[in-house]
Amino acid sequence: MIDQLQALRDHALEELARIDDLADLEAWRIRYLGKRGELTLALRGLGSLDPSERPVVGRIANEVKELLESELTARRDRIAAMLRAQEIARQAVDVTLPGRSGPVGQRHLITQMLDEVTAAFQRLGFQIVEGPEVEWDRYNFEALNIPPDHPARDMWDTFYVEWSGRPGGMLLRTHTSPDQIRVMEKTRPPVRIIVPGKVYRYEAVDATHESMFHQVEGLAVDEQLTMADLKGTLVAFAHQIFGRERRARFRCDYFPFVEPGAEMAIDCHVCRGAGCRLCKGSGWIEILGAGMVHPRVLAGVGYDPNVYSGFAFGMGVERIAMLKYGIDDIRLFFGNDLRFLRQFR
Ligand code: DAH
Repeated sequence: MIDQLQALRDHALEELARIDDLADLEAWRIRYLGKRGELTLALRGLGSLDPSERPVVGRIANEVKELLESELTARRDRIAAMLRAQEIARQAVDVTLPGRSGPVGQRHLITQMLDEVTAAFQRLGFQIVEGPEVEWDRYNFEALNIPPDHPARDMWDTFYVEWSGRPGGMLLRTHTSPDQIRVMEKTRPPVRIIVPGKVYRYEAVDATHESMFHQVEGLAVDEQLTMADLKGTLVAFAHQIFGRERRARFRCDYFPFVEPGAEMAIDCHVCRGAGCRLCKGSGWIEILGAGMVHPRVLAGVGYDPNVYSGFAFGMGVERIAMLKYGIDDIRLFFGNDLRFLRQFR
């Protein structure tokens, strides 16, 4: 019986040493220490022994049982530690792997275009100024030599904030030109400013008209500024935005706050002047309005028109972007379609 117990112990320990997962360990426990396990059955067999042998065999049997139980616990702890180590190894982060990048935003094409246009003028010494989008009639029209009931008001379809039946109240500015006045009222020449911003028009929206869009206004006032300064400045600007090889054309145009007034066109960068769809066959593309500041506008802000002269210009930023990138519908800018916007990173 003692030999039997020792053989059972040796065999069980040998098996235990090879076990390395919890399911096998449990099977081992059931096999040796379970209710019908080998050791349990052996212990039950004690009853049939001669009473004189019982104490010795019983003690040995209990020693074997305790040994198997403590070895079982030790093995279980080892296996648990091993599994924990494996799990930690599995979760380890390889810090040398490249990270996964999240979605990154970008500036809207119009914001980029505004920056590009204003930067071009900043290089020429112009300073950025911003003004209010809700504006007085006086700044939007009157101080710009557009009196109440003057037919020139028909050039701008206006959102009036309050309409008493007579001009004079507040409105959403129809252009950035009012900031010419706001700046001149506050400063003395020389003035060299650029005004980017939103403007509003009461428009039927279509491929080339929006009720909100962006303009960049420019103004320079000093002694002895001439049309040559206007042309030099605007040609330098067009070269920066549309390419060094662009040629410019200036023709007479009418704006109440300039005299003479002009429109500037560049030769079409798609067909190089030959005539195509973009330039509607003419070879030329209008990009902005400009002119020499009207003496009445200068006098209105207290600048002596006999001493000072200036030039001004204004352009639609959406139009510049449409020409530069061949975009054929202004509504695309504000449709919030990422497939469109992401093309302009
Ligand atoms: N404010 C004009 C418009 O919105 C554009 C313009 C034309 C601005 C001539 C100027 C200018 O400063 O000289 O149509």
